[in-house]
Amino acid sequence: MGKRNKADSKEIGLDLGIILSKYFFKTEHLHYGYWTKDLEVDPFNLAKAQDNHTNFIVSNIPDGTKTILDVGCGIGKLSQRFISLGYKPECVSPSKLLTKYAREILGGDILIHECKYEDLHTDKRYDLIVFSESYQYVDLVKSFENSLKYLNTGGHILICDFFKTDAKGESALGGGHHLKEFYETAKRYPLKMLKDIDITREAAPNLKLIDDFLTKVGVPVWQALLDYMDKKSPFVSKIIKWKFRKKIDKINKKYFSGTRNAENFAIFKSYRLFLFKKEA
Ligand SMILES: C[S@@+](CC[C@H](N)C(=O)[O-])C[C@H]1O[C@@H](n2cnc3c(N)ncnc32)[C@H](O)[C@@H]1O
Repeated sequence: MGKRNKADSKEIGLDLGIILSKYFFKTEHLHYGYWTKDLEVDPFNLAKAQDNHTNFIVSNIPDGTKTILDVGCGIGKLSQRFISLGYKPECVSPSKLLTKYAREILGGDILIHECKYEDLHTDKRYDLIVFSESYQYVDLVKSFENSLKYLNTGGHILICDFFKTDAKGESALGGGHHLKEFYETAKRYPLKMLKDIDITREAAPNLKLIDDFLTKVGVPVWQALLDYMDKKSPFVSKIIKWKFRKKIDKINKKYFSGTRNAENFAIFKSYRLFLFKKEA
């Protein structure tokens, strides 16, 4: 039950993410930006940085690829790009809201498997299976088992996502499989690792945007809310604060302690692109 709640809250987070991103940043991507040195770290450049991320994935598609399975397709922007380049994508999407947007963007001709990757059943086989920041949501072992099952011989897996490092200490930043565990698990399968590119430096600036947003918007709004409760009804406010003290502490620590920043991202996370080839 606990596990299910966690999965649901992640899904709600992504749904909210796309609603806010569309409105505030005029972007329809649900992944980090790839910040080149010349790009100022500013919310207005987020869409450009996210386009760089898409270009980075596209530039790593192996020659000879025709069919692609886009796992965790978000609202379909990456697959839309695949189509424009002549590839034939299909998508996997467990989120009702994101799937609805993806259908609008991709049209009726593109098959979207509406399920978690772990639950996918299909007779199709693909040249490339792509995880663009969706890998962290998928079970590690199942991701390899399913990918080997659904890849053509000689096909590839491309993963672009962040992982947890071995850094000591508590991180306010959640998400990502343990990098070490990932390497160890990958070794157990008939796969050849062709690429392992570290783009943590290019991804970390996203956390500066989040940190700025939390400091300049989140903290004052959160404080105003608590002050309002104190003034409006001091007794009820005291009870609520006592009853939910653990939750409130957790929110303060996670979001408002100033630790969700680029420096900590670079310490606790490693953002990487992996390309694997399925061996015969
Ligand atoms: C951060 S978004 C990335 C979306 C898109 N790939 C992009 O790059 O913008 C994560 C995506 O993973 C999907 N997802 C979450 N859990 C999943 C699972 N178990 N299997 C497949 N997709 C999953 C979400 O619905 C969402 O589309």
